[in-house]
Amino acid sequence: MSAPYILVLYYSRHGATAEMARQIARGVELGGLEARLRTVPAVSSECEAVAPAIPTEGALYASLDDLRHCAGLALGSPTRFGNMAAPLKYFLDGTSSLWLTGELVGKPAAVFTSTASLHGGQETTLLSMLLPLLHHGMLVCGLPYSEAALLETRGGGTPYGASHHAGGDGKRALDEHETALCRALGRRLAETARRLESAHA
Ligand SMILES: Cc1cc2nc3c(=O)[nH]c(=O)nc-3n(C[C@H](O)[C@H](O)[C@H](O)COP(=O)(O)O)c2cc1C
Repeated sequence: MSAPYILVLYYSRHGATAEMARQIARGVELGGLEARLRTVPAVSSECEAVAPAIPTEGALYASLDDLRHCAGLALGSPTRFGNMAAPLKYFLDGTSSLWLTGELVGKPAAVFTSTASLHGGQETTLLSMLLPLLHHGMLVCGLPYSEAALLETRGGGTPYGASHHAGGDGKRALDEHETALCRALGRRLAETARRLESAHA
């Protein structure tokens, strides 16, 4: 049996959401739990296309067991037309077996996203990402306004989850407030998971 961990599960095409995932993982570790970074393969219009089992770089692909055994979940996606990206939705659509057994019920979860434009759908994406997690019976962790960065940010950052404004060219790095909020979300998730686990011990 492995030590309790938070699964930081994301899709990222150009790296912005991946950098958020790494900052959330730092926050998870500050909150006293291990972070397991996992991604999902791209989906292809060529239905016969098969990705190699191990990606050429970055995090490993998530398995259902990574999700089944996590103490909590941080789920991240780039915004695509105000919604999560298809590869992440595709992975979630394959989680019915966990829904049938109720294995995610009562576990804490949080969401994060990156956009090209500041008002291009961060909040709709975050809320839509919560829907399948609520169907799984997970407990939602947002960001409270006691996090000073939430009021001070001129970029991303919402009470529904962490967000990042990457700019039209995708090159705007996470600023100090966006970074602080990613870490705060990871930390809050880890601390909540620890509290829930000790309450059930
Ligand atoms: C098909 C598609 C749809 C997109 N839709 C939006 C959108 O609705 N709003 C927005 O601000 N950015 C949109 N973007 C831009 C991405 O959200 C943005 O570049 C993001 O930072 C990419 O994250 P990544 O570096 O993790 O791939 C879209 C990009 C693609 C490819």
